[in-house]
Amino acid sequence: MISRLVEQSRRPDGLLGRVLLCTMGLAHRRLTAWGLEQVDLGADDTVLDVGCGGGGALDRLSQSVTDGHLHGLDLSRTALTKARRMTQADDATVRLTQGTVSTMPFPDERFDMVTAFQTHYHWPALDTDLAEIYRVLRQGGRLLIVGEKVKLQYHLEDYETTTATADLLDAVGFSESETVDHPEWLCVIGVR
Ligand SMILES: C[S@@+](CC[C@H](N)C(=O)[O-])C[C@H]1O[C@@H](n2cnc3c(N)ncnc32)[C@H](O)[C@@H]1O
Repeated sequence: MISRLVEQSRRPDGLLGRVLLCTMGLAHRRLTAWGLEQVDLGADDTVLDVGCGGGGALDRLSQSVTDGHLHGLDLSRTALTKARRMTQADDATVRLTQGTVSTMPFPDERFDMVTAFQTHYHWPALDTDLAEIYRVLRQGGRLLIVGEKVKLQYHLEDYETTTATADLLDAVGFSESETVDHPEWLCVIGVR
């Protein structure tokens, strides 16, 4: 059962996936709000939420990014269907794309900010996936990674600490990285 839940968290699908997306949406609300408090967002920014799941972060982002462009990317069609309902917006306002962080269908330097909530520990190859995010960020653009430390300990032994994650961002080429302390949650911000 645990492995089924882990698999669903990695790529929600079908009825169980829909139930899990609702549960995650509620469970991740505080963490998402806290993460977004750590960055300044411009009303006209272009922002991508990678692994957007059921759209909780996009919904919050839409309160700050009122004149910009929001994009959500996720592996799971089930998640994107939920995200479309959650954001209550059409494709011109919040653009949703099914795909993987490893090869994103976006041009170089497209985004002012990329966010990733409770997802980076599921990605197939964190170093090259971060390099792909670096590619789509404009110069000076920021990556915000937020996740529960307990999930990192379970899924991502090599990068379970904020320091190790920040070091990886430096190795990928980010010009600066900042970490925010929290007893339960990891938050690392990289500047391209
Ligand atoms: C635990 S859920 C978190 C969803 C949402 N960010 C939240 O905080 O509620 C992880 C999400 O990341 C997505 N995901 C996992 N691997 C991915 C990848 N390689 N590329 C894009 N999305 C991915 C999953 O489909 C799933 O919707």
